[in-house]
Amino acid sequence: MTFAKANNLNQLLDQPANPCVVVIFGAAGDLTKRKLIPALYNLARSNLLPEEFAIVGVTRAPMSSEDFRIQMSRDIEKFSTNDVDPQLWQWFEKRLYYLAGDFQDTDTYSRLKELLMQVDQERDTQGNYLYYLATAPQFFCDIIWQLGSVGLAQEDGYWRRVIIEKPFGQDLESARALNKNISTILKESQIYRIDHYLGKETVQNILVFRFGNGLFEPIWNHHYIDHVQITAAETVGVEGRGGYYEGAGAIRDMVQNHLFQLLALVAMEPPVSFEADAVRDEKSKVLKAIQPLTPQDVLTHTVRGQYGEGIVKGQHIPNYRSEPRVAPDSGTETFTALKLTIDNWRWADVPFYLRTGKSLAQRVTEITIQFKRVPTLLFNKTSIDQLVPNFLVIRIQPNEGISLQFGAKVPGPTVRMGAVDMDFAYTDYFNSAPSTGYETLLYDCMIGDATLFQRADNVELGWKVVSPILDVWKALPPRNFPNYAAGTWGPKEADELLQHDGRQWRTSADLSAPVKD
Ligand code: BG6
Repeated sequence: MTFAKANNLNQLLDQPANPCVVVIFGAAGDLTKRKLIPALYNLARSNLLPEEFAIVGVTRAPMSSEDFRIQMSRDIEKFSTNDVDPQLWQWFEKRLYYLAGDFQDTDTYSRLKELLMQVDQERDTQGNYLYYLATAPQFFCDIIWQLGSVGLAQEDGYWRRVIIEKPFGQDLESARALNKNISTILKESQIYRIDHYLGKETVQNILVFRFGNGLFEPIWNHHYIDHVQITAAETVGVEGRGGYYEGAGAIRDMVQNHLFQLLALVAMEPPVSFEADAVRDEKSKVLKAIQPLTPQDVLTHTVRGQYGEGIVKGQHIPNYRSEPRVAPDSGTETFTALKLTIDNWRWADVPFYLRTGKSLAQRVTEITIQFKRVPTLLFNKTSIDQLVPNFLVIRIQPNEGISLQFGAKVPGPTVRMGAVDMDFAYTDYFNSAPSTGYETLLYDCMIGDATLFQRADNVELGWKVVSPILDVWKALPPRNFPNYAAGTWGPKEADELLQHDGRQWRTSADLSAPVKD
């Protein structure tokens, strides 16, 4: 589902987007070949691109449009999520153009303007431009200013929109500065701050699951829910991105954006509609309600870790500090776990535990809702001494789906209870073609629906929550790094964070454990 379809009643289902040119800054990078081109190709495959469409790649590398087409034709064979249909690719390929230029050089933008006029004529793209900033963050401002200076950012009978990749700022101050800076050139309605987690079907499904079913919403509050866990565990390390990751760490790389988006979708109040601002208002309210951590809280409610050598999926993994462009005494965290509370009526006294890390035991992104236990009085005279609580697990990836765990009587003459699952797996339903996760986001931007993108205040509120943590961590550099072995579930302090509250981390792997006699 794309929320755009729900928003725009005049928009027929699966109608192609408006005529436009997608200009990708950073077209030689990984994101372009792995995600953006395959996603745009998938949109063409679903008949969601208009006939009047083109893509312009911009980077410094000297290359002709012909070279770019050859390069993309090779890459699509490698990275497409679906078989490449030669006829469709031919249609797509002839809409690819390339411009070599330095992002900081004014001349690049004058030449871009000329090229876009030529493309508009050849493809009838009507002056609508979507700029995708798939570059290093230090270029975001420059590119937007330069576009403004040659008149490529102004809207006047046509639209100009900018998708900005993460990281959006390094902390609250830099995010505010960036927002302020770009707002002198662009209106907020032209800015699409992307978080690729919101392109995932399973993430969009959280809203549908919560607000489209009568069953769960009435119990979605502190009366029934004991706590919420959000886990985004990765088996991969930093994959050659040591230069970037050293300055980011797990909290900036994953928590401030992806995990907070998941938290906001789980915790927000129902929006009055799926209009972009209605949804984003509710997200902001819930992020605003997260109780700020005091320096003392940071010490007791947050955990950071860095992986040392270990075995992941049978392979030896060297420690993080030996990665290229990582300092040999690096203090960057590759793992973090946090306990947060949301100070509103719905979530009073319900802790939200978040954890994410690299080189962990298993790749799994899941949200676990643990419901409160029922009183055991009734079962006092049986052999059951502890009732298992009910869990709902929303599996974001892999094995996308939802499981509900509850207790059932183990057959036999005595009263015994076992945990069983009701399980929904996406693979068993809907039969949809594999996608990159960027299709919906690109399409939504082309039709002007910002529901799944972050507004300036959403991003700043995320930074506001993590800033006190970053401050304390900076003042107290870690002394015990590396403190977990690659291939494990992170440092023992992460387990202690929950054990201290009488709880433990759970994933769907725990849920599907066979019932013990
Ligand atoms: C990116 C982070 O935003 O998300 C990466 O920069 C991380 O470090 C990735 O690996 C995880 O995305 P996904 O879709 O694989 O869960």
